[in-house]
Amino acid sequence: MESRVALSEMEDAAAFPVAPRFEAYERDIERVLITEAEIKQKLRDLGDQITEDYAGKDLLLIAVLKGAFVVMADLSRHIRLPVETDFMAVASYGAATKTSGVVRILKDLDHDLEARDVLLVEDIVDSGLTLNYLLKNLRGRRPASLEVFALLKKTGIQRVHLDVRYVGFEIPPDFVVGYGLDFAEKFRNLPYIATLKPEAYTES
Ligand code: IMP
Ligand code: MG
Repeated sequence: MESRVALSEMEDAAAFPVAPRFEAYERDIERVLITEAEIKQKLRDLGDQITEDYAGKDLLLIAVLKGAFVVMADLSRHIRLPVETDFMAVASYGAATKTSGVVRILKDLDHDLEARDVLLVEDIVDSGLTLNYLLKNLRGRRPASLEVFALLKKTGIQRVHLDVRYVGFEIPPDFVVGYGLDFAEKFRNLPYIATLKPEAYTES
């Protein structure tokens, strides 16, 4: 019997002739900021760069839950090295759309970081306060190296100096959703990055 595992690009396109739509979300979306294709291309390019930079090394990818679960899954498949993955869950105290800078670790790593080459994968760097806290914490575990990948970086509003080695896209300092990023836990599964209409924040 013929194997259906190796779907060619053409078969793939035939199976999905029209891009699937997210009608339930679309009425809340103001503007698509970054398309699915743009994200895919960027992750390919940065994946290539990471593959080169870490060739021969023992790379450990760490994603900060929940937001980074989508980018972690896609980015890791563009890194052609035998990577390991781990997850950390943190909660910042304060309102839904603002960060207070105080972070609580809800789920710690399974891996020991000592002498590991670690790449922390973030969905977005906004104030940078969460990341700053995490980096201090992780540095204390004596990794061989510690770098940051952020899919998005809001321009000009970081309240602390941060060295983000790999940045996907610099965006204006507006609240965005999609591709892992949520508003009230929704929109994480949207395959692109978008801004919401003002009404979306008030209606529920
Ligand atoms: P920061 O500490 O201000 O850099 O941001 C911490 C966290 O807030 C991020 O990891 C996101 O989970 C969340 N966040 C910041 N900006 C946005 C946004 O525009 N949309 C959705 N979540 C955001
Ligand atoms: Mg996050």
